[in-house]
Amino acid sequence: MNDTIINIVYLLKALPFRCQIVPIEMDEDGLIPEEFSRALKDHSILSGRKMKFLYCVPNGGNPTGICYTEERKRLIYELAREYNLLILEDDAYFFLQSKVIALYM
Ligand SMILES: Cc1ncc(COP(=O)(O)O)c(C=O)c1O
Repeated sequence: MNDTIINIVYLLKALPFRCQIVPIEMDEDGLIPEEFSRALKDHSILSGRKMKFLYCVPNGGNPTGICYTEERKRLIYELAREYNLLILEDDAYFFLQSKVIALYM
């Protein structure tokens, strides 16, 4: 299972960024921390380069609709800290969550 915002992928692959994209497996709770950890290790061993940032859509992923659980966010954040990685959070749909809407009603 995976979300792919195709425009973002094209943008990151294009000049001047020339990013190498490493997809990370997800389940219904969001990005899988064990897969993220493995990707971080494998990527640096195989390519000799460190990952620079994680791009993620924590709420209403496209096309899966997945919203990361609080626990997942914490585990991912801990890994990002350990590997000194930026998190680029595309949270366009945060305010569409029913629990957030309820706060404003
Ligand atoms: C979370 C998220 N970010 C970015 C985009 C891309 O937006 P745009 O088509 O305005 O570039 C989408 C499009 O569906 C999206 O779902």
